[in-house]
Amino acid sequence: MDRIRIVGGNELSGSIPISGAKNAALPLMIASLLTDGTLTLENVPHLADVEQLTRILGNHGVDYSVNGRRPKQSEAYSRTVNFTARNIVDTTAPYELVSKMRASFWVIGPLLARMGEARVSLPGGCAIGTRPVDLFIDGLQALGAGIDVENGYVIAKAKNRLRGNRYVFPKVSVGATHVLMMAASLARGETVLENAAREPEIVNLADCLNAMGAKISGAGTSTITIDGVDQLSGASVRVIPDRIETGTYAMAVAMTGGDVLLEGAEPDLLQAALDVIAQTGAEITPTNAGIRVRRNGAGIAPVDITTAPFPAFPTDLQAQFMGLMTMAKGKSHITETIFENRFMHVQELARLGAHITLSGQTAIVEGVSKLKGAPVMATDLRASVSLVIAGLAAEGETLVNRVYHLDRGFERLEEKLSGCGAVIERISG
Ligand code: EPZ
Repeated sequence: MDRIRIVGGNELSGSIPISGAKNAALPLMIASLLTDGTLTLENVPHLADVEQLTRILGNHGVDYSVNGRRPKQSEAYSRTVNFTARNIVDTTAPYELVSKMRASFWVIGPLLARMGEARVSLPGGCAIGTRPVDLFIDGLQALGAGIDVENGYVIAKAKNRLRGNRYVFPKVSVGATHVLMMAASLARGETVLENAAREPEIVNLADCLNAMGAKISGAGTSTITIDGVDQLSGASVRVIPDRIETGTYAMAVAMTGGDVLLEGAEPDLLQAALDVIAQTGAEITPTNAGIRVRRNGAGIAPVDITTAPFPAFPTDLQAQFMGLMTMAKGKSHITETIFENRFMHVQELARLGAHITLSGQTAIVEGVSKLKGAPVMATDLRASVSLVIAGLAAEGETLVNRVYHLDRGFERLEEKLSGCGAVIERISG
């Protein structure tokens, strides 16, 4: 298994191109199931999760082709990909495929809306918490679907087409909002979703569906209205820049010091996180080319955060922020409200010398003046990258094991960081 070797201590300086967002690309790819036309997605990141979803969609009958690489751009950078679901050949998403990636459960929405049936494996548990699917089931039932859960599969049927309805999410869910928006686009009549997720990825999907002929308004607010249409067509849509990758590299610079331009990053996608990073002492400057992050050696100020749905501080940056706070001049409190078990990085950061105690859903981080490199591993994507950030600032060598987590969500991580002066390399085998 590959590992990442880091020798910490260098400041970062230069520029890092921000890739297309994984969490936007995945639902956009799934939207291709809604039409027999071709959905062209620009700026699709080259990541293990995207490859995995391509395989899952292929199983349902989606063809894909890749084009549009820029000159001198390496094969692994974000690309333009065409997805065409001319015929849906299978409405079952089997356990073997769905269990590898939770977002693949989301195919239930378009399959049901287009084909009147879907049989999708329950995604099962995952390292960051139990992550149930009750909101998907409730919401699809509100649109008139009959749903049974049997032998580990959700079997959804809507023989006479889904019908629009008002649905109030009892809890904000990104995935359930994506799924109900896709399903309601082909339903008969109007659907109103209340307490919907407001994440930028929801807006990207709504824009995509509208380009395909859907009638959606209000995406980005907590009330989304969808006027169902009879059919959708192909379209061409750009994947938004990855706000979590942007925040991750901004925190890396805030931790090591230096001066980096995050090329193509958009501040509006992560304003709450940028405000917090600025409070820690980094200088954040939006420019025409992206976001410039600078920090001198004056030390990192401690800041308390609480994760919450957009527009608040995102759970997907919580681990990285904890990495940054391990070297703050004082004590910070980090409270996780989205997932009940998203503190797997605490033990590993401790291996680098961090002082962190847990009290329920809050981590109390007592900043230390230095971290020391060590072998570490993590059980999820964002936790893994928090160890990379800490390793960049630690003295000596850090070896990050289980690199496949990083490959799920960070395009060309080593290349981007070493291009800014970090000593970081992948060790194969
Ligand atoms: C999306 O997951 C993201 N994944 C996650 O990013 C992100 O952490 C999460 O949203 C929150 O922002 C993708 O976009 C592919 P939710 P999702 O449904 O949609 C509970 C990463 O690292 N819930 O908004 O699965 C759930 O357990 C990943 O890139 C129910 O109770 O998250 C959680 O507590 C990790 N019942 C809360 O809602 C349901 O039916 C929010 O989850 C569905 C969710």
